[in-house]
Amino acid sequence: MTRASRSDRTVYLRSHPLLFALLAATRRRPLLRLGRTVLVHHPDAYREVLTRVPLDRTAARTTGGTAARLTGGSLLFDQQGAEHRTARRELAHLLGPAGVAALQPLWQRILDRHLGGLTAPVDLVPAVRELAGATAAALTGSDADPVRLALAAERAAAATARAHLPALLPRPGRGRRARRAALRLQELLPDPRDAMLAVAAVNTTLAALPRAAAWCARDRLWAQARHDAPALAAELLRRTAASPVLPRAAAADATVLGHRIRRGDRLLLVARHAAQSHHDTPTHSHAVRAPFGLGPHACPGAALARAQLTLLLSTLAPHRPRVLRTAPHPAGALPSYRTCIVRAS
Ligand code: HEM
Repeated sequence: MTRASRSDRTVYLRSHPLLFALLAATRRRPLLRLGRTVLVHHPDAYREVLTRVPLDRTAARTTGGTAARLTGGSLLFDQQGAEHRTARRELAHLLGPAGVAALQPLWQRILDRHLGGLTAPVDLVPAVRELAGATAAALTGSDADPVRLALAAERAAAATARAHLPALLPRPGRGRRARRAALRLQELLPDPRDAMLAVAAVNTTLAALPRAAAWCARDRLWAQARHDAPALAAELLRRTAASPVLPRAAAADATVLGHRIRRGDRLLLVARHAAQSHHDTPTHSHAVRAPFGLGPHACPGAALARAQLTLLLSTLAPHRPRVLRTAPHPAGALPSYRTCIVRAS
């Protein structure tokens, strides 16, 4: 294991220690039933569940159910069929090549302002927070302050994350805190679709970009970043798998790789293992796409996320920064850094 992968694994394990330790310990089992919960590790099983097994997209403690409760509306994550296809089409032009190209100058301005010449230490987390908040504001047509918007999206997601992922002990007051955080986000983005988009974009971007840049610095990949930043960005998104577990629920009985799934089973789809994040070279053809989900609900923001990381790596590369200090976020919705300080070599 390289220094970068060891260090990144720590961020992952520390974010939800019991759950992620259990997932790491059971990684070699393609699927594993624990009562009514099924852990889905194998890349083929992950693909089959997302493309073939009927899923209950509004069940409690699934992404769809949580998103609907968080933002108070019927949204992409919990939609099916024609309604879902229409919503995807509406989003496609915003997140497609033209939409991404239109955002590039805004991203470059933000990065240049934060990074300067990197002659002094720079914390990448606030830079990426503004980048993510400004993207969410532009996509939703909001004039809210980008940093305020990003913080509201982070807090709303963090407050609901504990409800979203399995907990061993009850946590009183959790629901109330989540509702308060959701209300604060709704004050900035009253349309539930906008709030959902901001939560989906901000939290994943904040989880992915600083970790990917730190990985690049620790493994001294700056020459590769200069030579082919898009390929390196795609690979680092696979290695970091920013949204490591997708909680879903089965809507009907099914069989996956010879294992029985029963209607109502809770499915924990381990995107990190489907992406083979622990392997230097993936052996499954869909490993690179797996961090973004597969099938009809696969992430519509994947190209935008790759473009953002490509730009960040290209902007950093001439300075060949090294990592001075990182600290994991103790309460983020996804495994992420609270601080990631870099400086030109
Ligand atoms: C590294 C960055 C990102 C990662 C790892 C990521 C990952 C994911 C995953 C795993 C899903 C669920 C897919 C499934 O159920 O099959 C998803 C859905 C979604 N993502 Fe992303 N995402 C990222 C960035 C973004 C960005 C930047 C946006 C918007 C600008 C976005 C918008 C969405 C939306 C709207 C959905 C719901 C799609 C649907 O249910 O049809 N994501 N994402």
